[in-house]
Parts: sequence; C-alpha cells; structure tokens
Amino acid sequence: MTYFFIFGSHPELSQAELTSILTREHFSFSITSRRENFLLLETTTPLPDKFLTRLGGAIKYGEIIADSPSDKLQKTLFQILINHSGTGKIRFGLNAYNRETDLTKLGLTIKNALKDSGLTCRFVTSRESTLSSVVIHKNKLDQKDGFDFNLFYLDGRIQIGQTLAVQNFIFYSNIDYKRPAFDDKSGMLPPKVAQIMLNLLSDKTDSIYDPFCGSGTILMMAGLAGFSNLNGSDLSAKAVDDTITNLDWVRDRHQLNFTHTVKAADAAAISTNLKPNSISAIVTEPYLGLALTGRETPDELDHNISDLTQLYQTVFDQFASVLKTAGEIILILPEITLPRFRYRFSAENLIPKSLEILGHWVYSRPGQKVIRHIYKIVKVNKK
Ligand SMILES: C[S@@+](CC[C@H](N)C(=O)[O-])C[C@H]1O[C@@H](n2cnc3c(N)ncnc32)[C@H](O)[C@@H]1O
Repeated sequence: MTYFFIFGSHPELSQAELTSILTREHFSFSITSRRENFLLLETTTPLPDKFLTRLGGAIKYGEIIADSPSDKLQKTLFQILINHSGTGKIRFGLNAYNRETDLTKLGLTIKNALKDSGLTCRFVTSRESTLSSVVIHKNKLDQKDGFDFNLFYLDGRIQIGQTLAVQNFIFYSNIDYKRPAFDDKSGMLPPKVAQIMLNLLSDKTDSIYDPFCGSGTILMMAGLAGFSNLNGSDLSAKAVDDTITNLDWVRDRHQLNFTHTVKAADAAAISTNLKPNSISAIVTEPYLGLALTGRETPDELDHNISDLTQLYQTVFDQFASVLKTAGEIILILPEITLPRFRYRFSAENLIPKSLEILGHWVYSRPGQKVIRHIYKIVKVNKK
C-alpha cells in the first residue's frame, strides 16, 4: 500500500521522525516521492490505526487510492465518490500540493455532476490550495461519508490520496495550555517537538531520562508515547514540583501506567548520583542561556557563551559517563540570532570522544532570537 504524509513547517525533521519510528517498529517501507512538504511511502503491511497520533511532525496522512491522467481527474474523482457513497450526504474537499489547480471549478463541476446523478453532497472549499486541519475536522471530512482528496502531480500523472487523519491540534494545545504547572520564565518546549525528539531514538527503551526537565514537557510526551519509566531532574526545586504535578495530571487524564522519579540535581554533576553505564536514553532541552532581549552588551553575550560552553562540555562528559554503550542522547543546542550577533553551539566542538553524532536538524520559528538545533548522539566504545 502507498501512503502520503503532509509535513508541517520542518519537513526534514518530520521525515527523520517518520523514518525513525518506522525503522524501529520494523516496518518494511520505501519512500517513492518526496517534495517540499509531502512524502509518498510504500509499505508491505498496513500502518496501524491512529498512526498519525504517534508523530509530532506530520499534519495529515492518508492512502493513495487512485492515479489519473490530468485530463481524466474530474471523472476519476466523480467515480470514487459515486462508488463509495453511502446513505448520508457526501462531503468532500480538495487539496493540491505541488501544482496550482483551480480547485473551486473542479469541485463545483463534480458537485453538479453528483447532483445530476441524484446524490446530495457538500463541497468544502477554502481560499488556500489546501484545507487546514481545523476545516477538515470541523466539516468531518475525515469521518464516514467524508472525503478529503489530496492531489499530487508526479511523473505526468496525478496521484489521488484520501485523508485518513489530520493532526489533533486540540490534544497538543491541551498539553500546552491545560497542564496545571507552567514555567513561563525558562520557557517550555512545544509538545510536538518533544514528541519528535522521543521518536528520533533508535530504540524504544523502557526508561528515559531528562536531566533539565523544566516543567516536564518531554517526560509528559514520553508517558503518552508509552515509555514506562520516566526519570527527570532539574536544578530548580520549582521545576521538580512542576514536573511531578504535570506528570500526575497527564497520567490521570490519559489513564497511563508509567512510574516516575523526579529529583533536584545539577546536570553538571549527575554522575555523583547515577551509576556509570546505567542509562539507556537521555532526551533533553538543556538550559539555553539568558532570555535575550537584543539589548545585551558584547560582554554580556560573551559571558553567556562561555558559561554555556562550559555547562555543555561538562554535561556531555557526565552523559558519556552515565550512558550505556550504544545509549543515545537527543538534545537541543541553541543558536543565538540577534540582528548584529550570531553564535551557534556545535555539538562537534563540545562532545568527548566516546560520543558520536548521528544526526542534526534545525527547529525554528519566525522571529525567534534563539533557534533550536536538535542532535542525535550515541555513546560508542572509545576513550
Ligand atoms: C529550557 S528549560 C527546559 C524546559 C523543558 N524542556 C520544558 O519544556 O519544560 C531548562 C531547565 O534547565 C534547568 N537548569 C538550568 N541549569 C541547570 C543545571 N545545571 N542542571 C539541571 N538543570 C538546570 C532550569 O531550571 C530549567 O528548568
């Protein structure tokens, strides 16, 4: 079967997440096409139900149900709707991904042809060439008698995909805004990014450790992803309390089964409390430095950089000591992007010899003064 995936704002990162989760779950798959923001993928076995809920970086997915020459598109779509029409009113929407298409004209022609055949239907339009998740969901195009068609222009033909699910924007917003404890000062990682980071691990270990847990976003998402043993620490006692409160909340709300241990600890000295070679996976967003306003003096910026460099070097040494061989780290390092000052912390310059970089992706939002670089790092047998 062939599936399509529509990615959000970071297609490279989203593709890495998707291929990582498919690989670690032993799916046999091959990517047949990849354009700016979509990907077509063949699998030998069907993907499990609710697969999209496991991905932070894909906003929609579905199955390729037909392919058509351009001049037969209208007829093909009409035929699909006629063949699948149940007893209810048909609802359908259209999305075009890599070519401008007059979707309104196409949709209205199909709608009129269906009417002429005695079927009642509703054509859902938007001003954009694609319908948003909100529009698809509100108009129930992802439910019975609903059809959200996606047109991919590839090799002179049009691949037609039908949406199976769109990203559950309400779920992510609840994790963000309904959690009982917040940390507005240190900032919170978007839950989707936390989910992507967990999916970048090569193995789904039982235990996970976040030594800069803040208010617990990564650990909450780990609990939701099925990790059973959640461990966290933070220098701040408030962060420890916040994480415990949020983990208890997410566990009750989603009836999860994990256990958690969260303590106050300096990430630069974790080896004093943890045994060497005992941790399988660290997923973390460390302290990213001063909250920047853009009015910092060159001295303040220099201090910020040298403090962070020292913290990151020490922390990487500590991680190398407590990780098992082949244990992995998924971690964020910042890039400062002020109008007249740029600086990027590169893991290459900070890690000891026993750690090796496996991958690197960027996550940024427009206007951000600090861009996040996500690294995947493994512990190897080297001194
Ligand atoms: C960017 S925040 C992490 C936010 C977290 N990912 C979340 O979404 O809630 C960084 C955290 O690192 C903590 N921190 C700073 N220096 C630390 C250190 N040396 N050891 C442990 N935690 C530290 C801060 O208290 C803060 O909670």
